[in-house]
Amino acid sequence: MKRLIKNNVSWIGKVDWELTTFHGDDYSITNGSSQNAYLIEEEKTVLIDTVWSPHDKEFMRNLEKAINLEKLDFIVVNHGEVDHSGALPFLMSKRPDLPIYCTANAVKSLVGQFHHPEWNFNVVKTGDSVDIGNGKSLVFVEMRMLHWPDSMATYMTGDNILFSNDAFGQHFAVEELFADLADQCTLWEQAIKYYANILNPFSPLVAAKIKEVVALNLPIDIIAPSHGAIWRENPLQIIEAYAKWADAYQEDQITIVYDTMWEGTKQLAHQLAADLQKVSPETTVKVYHIGRTDKNDIMTQVFKSKAIAVGSPTVGQNILSSMSGWMSFLTELKFKKKKAASFGCYGWSGESPKLLSDQLKAAGFDVVEPMARVNWNPTEEDLGQMMAIAEELAK
Ligand code: FEO
Repeated sequence: MKRLIKNNVSWIGKVDWELTTFHGDDYSITNGSSQNAYLIEEEKTVLIDTVWSPHDKEFMRNLEKAINLEKLDFIVVNHGEVDHSGALPFLMSKRPDLPIYCTANAVKSLVGQFHHPEWNFNVVKTGDSVDIGNGKSLVFVEMRMLHWPDSMATYMTGDNILFSNDAFGQHFAVEELFADLADQCTLWEQAIKYYANILNPFSPLVAAKIKEVVALNLPIDIIAPSHGAIWRENPLQIIEAYAKWADAYQEDQITIVYDTMWEGTKQLAHQLAADLQKVSPETTVKVYHIGRTDKNDIMTQVFKSKAIAVGSPTVGQNILSSMSGWMSFLTELKFKKKKAASFGCYGWSGESPKLLSDQLKAAGFDVVEPMARVNWNPTEEDLGQMMAIAEELAK
């Protein structure tokens, strides 16, 4: 069903209440999501993006109710990832001649995924524009690596709408469509989770792109992303948030992440939390058992932290496998300007704290000394070591 956004621009996407994971199972979805496509009906009729392939029939039914498909002049594919291009094969089967406006990299991704090199691709780059009549045009802005090499945004003059694709989105099902009508707590929780878990590795590019877009001095009345709520009241608020998040964001928070075999490493984690509270009462301290907490939610807390502490017992001269997977994800997200410490109990060989320290350094953290390496269950004296770590992290 198409729903009015402004003047001759409508939303025609899918509010995906049932979605529980994204990027395979790599990203947890707790409040649904949406794939937002947009229909522009000026002198030219234009579609911006589509939806994920499981919804392609529903999408096409809605599109054909909204317009005569023969009236569609072209489609803009802002990004080739299948959550936005999934209905393209069905659409192209009905309109094989339809011009597709996209970046050169998007041609590669679309051909790679759908194997139709004969489609009518029209490659665009930053600054290119297309007249859509009624005194309005679409201007393209490449958004390379935000978050794929093929990503692009499309700006509509006259109505001043930025179709930003993945940037400024959230995995959040908002039936009301607009950010000002959404639950604000969930909206911002999902926006920061999305940034921390998807966009953070590209923060230097986010910062540069925001500067570039601001320098264009374009009036922006609406930011219409491809996931979640549409920003229409003070749309610059999400750009300002991104500018802040892209600049090695941190709050006065320290997050402790651990796994444990027989509760020894857990005791160290809890002692460290108590010591941090003594050393720095204003600092928010959070503790997460890696095996029992959603990994993306923990990563959001890491993103908000000025320092983290990571603990694992030694098993098989290594760290627990739950921690190995999480450390790999931590490395991928390329956090900057955060301190870290390591700790862990062991029975026999005791490699885990050193291994964690090495991995934290490789992940870009400023690792502080000392680490806590405790044989068997911690004694009162062993627990006393955590205060020195707390002092270093809180400095
Ligand atoms: Fe929402 Fe990169 O796809």
